[in-house]
Amino acid sequence: MNTATSTAYHYKVVRQFAIMTVVWGIVGMGLGVFIAAQLAWPFLNFDLPWTSFGRLRPLHTNAVIFAFGGCALFATSYYSVQRTCQTTLFAPKLAAFTFWGWQLVILLAAISLPLGFTSSKEYAELEWPIDLLITIVWVAYAIVFFGTLATRKVKHIYVGNWFFGAFILTVAILHIVNNLEIPVTAMKSYSLYAGATDAMVQWWYGHNAVGFFLTAGFLGIMYYFVPKQAERPVYSYRLSIVHFWALITVYIWAGPHHLHYTALPDWAQSLGMVMSLILLAPSWGGMINGMMTLSGAWHKLRSDPILRFLVVSLAFYGMSTFEGPMMAIKTVNALSHYTDWTIGHVHAGALGWVAMVSIGALYHLIPKVFGREQMHSIGLINTHFWLATIGTVLYIASMWVNGIAQGLMWRAINEDGTLTYSFVEALEASHPGFVVRMIGGAIFFTGMLVMAYNTWRTVRAAKPAEYDAAAQIA
Ligand code: HEM
Ligand code: HEM
Repeated sequence: MNTATSTAYHYKVVRQFAIMTVVWGIVGMGLGVFIAAQLAWPFLNFDLPWTSFGRLRPLHTNAVIFAFGGCALFATSYYSVQRTCQTTLFAPKLAAFTFWGWQLVILLAAISLPLGFTSSKEYAELEWPIDLLITIVWVAYAIVFFGTLATRKVKHIYVGNWFFGAFILTVAILHIVNNLEIPVTAMKSYSLYAGATDAMVQWWYGHNAVGFFLTAGFLGIMYYFVPKQAERPVYSYRLSIVHFWALITVYIWAGPHHLHYTALPDWAQSLGMVMSLILLAPSWGGMINGMMTLSGAWHKLRSDPILRFLVVSLAFYGMSTFEGPMMAIKTVNALSHYTDWTIGHVHAGALGWVAMVSIGALYHLIPKVFGREQMHSIGLINTHFWLATIGTVLYIASMWVNGIAQGLMWRAINEDGTLTYSFVEALEASHPGFVVRMIGGAIFFTGMLVMAYNTWRTVRAAKPAEYDAAAQIA
């Protein structure tokens, strides 16, 4: 019946993206565990090109960032933009197209990367035909999101939507500029830029992929789901606005910290360093705003594992955004660059912040869009929480130890100026850390399997009539 379309939120696309977040989380993190095992036991490369670390690593990064993270962002943004605007999705058919289009992008990535097709730009490896498809899907996403904002029934635009909006707009610009390339065959292209310019554009993209894909979008999630789950208003709305403008203004300049001591002009490196240090302030402004939203509701942490996921994700966000500016200091970077310290930093952000905030938001959202009161088992959410926390801590602690050991061993010099340690000696010293990282990853991955089971039980018990009723605009 047609009345449903005017009085009910469009939850079907939210449900689809939510389920695929869990599916791609398992695939991407499973791949992470496998490549972690390859680093500990190289025979697992099987001497085949398709299963080699070099090809599976970008498959992992694309799967976790764009498939898992991307689906989480689509699901949560489509859900919260409707609810905060008190209206239905603009152009629901286009929203359905974004779902199928995005799954096609992921499928094409999963086929082309193991086959060795790559533009060789990190986090932008996909070749030009897939880049074009991404652009089309992303424009459709922008139309649906901003169209929904434009047709809102309330005057105010909630701050979470500012973050989602900035993420959508900026990712579009980053993707198009960094992927300007000249196709030479159906699956091979060359970048339009050369030399140091290419590197600068790539890391302007790379860093802002972190800033806008892995941060601004997930802050949009934080601003909607933390207050909802805590049943408290955002601690300071004024701070959230300052946070927004400060974050987006500063992030865009920090990219050169990825290119310290390279052919990039020295002033650009120093500018990147200074901007990264300044970035600590807005990052912590956001973290504090999220944490303080729990004022008067801290006791809920004792009984609510979903809130625990959200709060611990903020703690990891605070930690990684302290660590990042420190690593951007040139003298610190001279030690940390090329070592596992970077990998530890990445996963403090990726597992501790991005994955945990997404998981918390999904546990809040899944029962709502399937018309259930809550997830099948709260106990299993609690189990998941501990698996995720312990897994993350093991992962990052082992990488800190490895990273600092590698950095110090590589630079150790004897009195006569020769190197104290060969590269292989530093690699041998890293082996225990590789094994611990693999175990930490496997623990985190097990948590995702628990989530899949819990989700399956929740969804299986749902009936279409129930989720139609839950979708009525209040
Ligand atoms: C079970 C969980 C995970 C495991 C075991 C895992 C494992 C790994 C491994 C072994 C690497 C390669 C490290 C190297 O080259 O030395 C890697 C790289 C990476 N992973 Fe994960 N990962 C996991 C989850 C995630 C998640 C959830 C994200 C993002 C949301 C993520 C983002 C990345 C990124 C961005 C890199 C590249 C880092 C760089 O180039 O500096 N990972 N991961
Ligand atoms: C204030 C915030 C942050 C600053 C200033 C910062 C700074 C840095 C620095 C200096 C590096 C090392 C560059 C190198 O030596 O190659 C780095 C790497 C990285 N960071 Fe951060 N970081 C921040 C927050 C985050 C967060 C929250 C995440 C994840 C959600 C993240 C993800 C990454 C990734 C994926 C890399 C590896 C890039 C690569 O080499 O492939 N960062 N960051």
